[in-house]
Amino acid sequence: MTTLVFGGLGHVGSWIVHDLAERGEEVVVFDRASDIEGLELDYLEPHLPNIRFENVDVLDTHTLFERMRAYEGRISAAIFGVAVIAGPTFQNRPFRNIGINTTGMLNVIDACRILGVPKFINLSSGAVYGNQPGGQTEDLPFKATDLYGATKVANEVLAQQYSLTYGIDVRQARLYFVYGPGKRPSTMHPLYKAMFGGLEGLTGIEVANGGDQSLDWTHVRDTAQGVIRLLDAPQVEPGEAFNISCGVATNHREIIEHVELLTGREAAMRLGSGQYFSRGAPLDISKARQRLKFTPRFTDIREGLSDYHEWLAGTQT
Ligand SMILES: NC(=O)c1ccc[n+]([C@@H]2O[C@H](COP(=O)([O-])OP(=O)(O)OC[C@H]3O[C@@H](n4cnc5c(N)ncnc54)[C@H](O)[C@@H]3O)[C@@H](O)[C@H]2O)c1
Repeated sequence: MTTLVFGGLGHVGSWIVHDLAERGEEVVVFDRASDIEGLELDYLEPHLPNIRFENVDVLDTHTLFERMRAYEGRISAAIFGVAVIAGPTFQNRPFRNIGINTTGMLNVIDACRILGVPKFINLSSGAVYGNQPGGQTEDLPFKATDLYGATKVANEVLAQQYSLTYGIDVRQARLYFVYGPGKRPSTMHPLYKAMFGGLEGLTGIEVANGGDQSLDWTHVRDTAQGVIRLLDAPQVEPGEAFNISCGVATNHREIIEHVELLTGREAAMRLGSGQYFSRGAPLDISKARQRLKFTPRFTDIREGLSDYHEWLAGTQT
């Protein structure tokens, strides 16, 4: 049987693809990026025999359906990880970005309905809690505090109704603030660059705010592990959601200090006061720990930073 991973060349998606292919499963990547060349996803290379690539835009409904239909009858699950992720530029192109996140998911889940795909994993976000204070459990009401969060709320509501109406086994993973191998800080938003850029040799980045905020930044391998545990879980309620993060919030200025200690270099990064994201932290991950046996490895961010540093050093050209 085959798992389709939409957004499988992205940060989280590529590690999900890695983990599935590593255990010998056939995985098909559906992504607008055509293949892994130039993406520095070195960790996929040993597993390429188990991975197929479909260069598809999820807004190109007809091509999407045609390419999914090529696997009809042998798809065990679809994982939806296509997104324009949260950041200060999301609001600059609202129609396009909301379309990719929400119409994109609708296109994929509806193709799953028509093709009889039994299981659908929606990569959602702790953004569905907005700025409600940390320790958020899955039974809190939704609160969107930005357009990205609104797409995540909309997707969860739609996916759950697809589950209830059409009997698809829908599961939702609420991820939070991912970092680590597969994504270079220099390609990310200013806060990410300031916090993790020292690991890549960046210096002197100034960000107007974010210095007073603590978030549960989660190593991407832990994020992927949580999604796979959810995929494998024997039974969940229709559209049931699980928080997947490291469960420990760390202050952003502290992360910069850890990076400087690790590299032995002053990076001269400056964060102004206040919050960067309108979010509370950390997510309460006890449900995933108990029900999915999810055990994040990098609960001490210093260990996660060290792992990230090694990857960046190993792939620097
Ligand atoms: N990164 C985080 O901190 C974070 C936090 C919470 C939730 N999430 C969620 O996790 C999921 C994965 O996030 P990520 O960090 O891996 O994102 P990413 O940006 O690294 O990957 C997204 C992938 O989607 C692909 N894509 C974008 N538009 C497309 C389109 N129209 N058609 C086909 N493919 C398209 C991109 O090529 C990319 O490979 C998303 O749903 C995101 O909202 C991420």
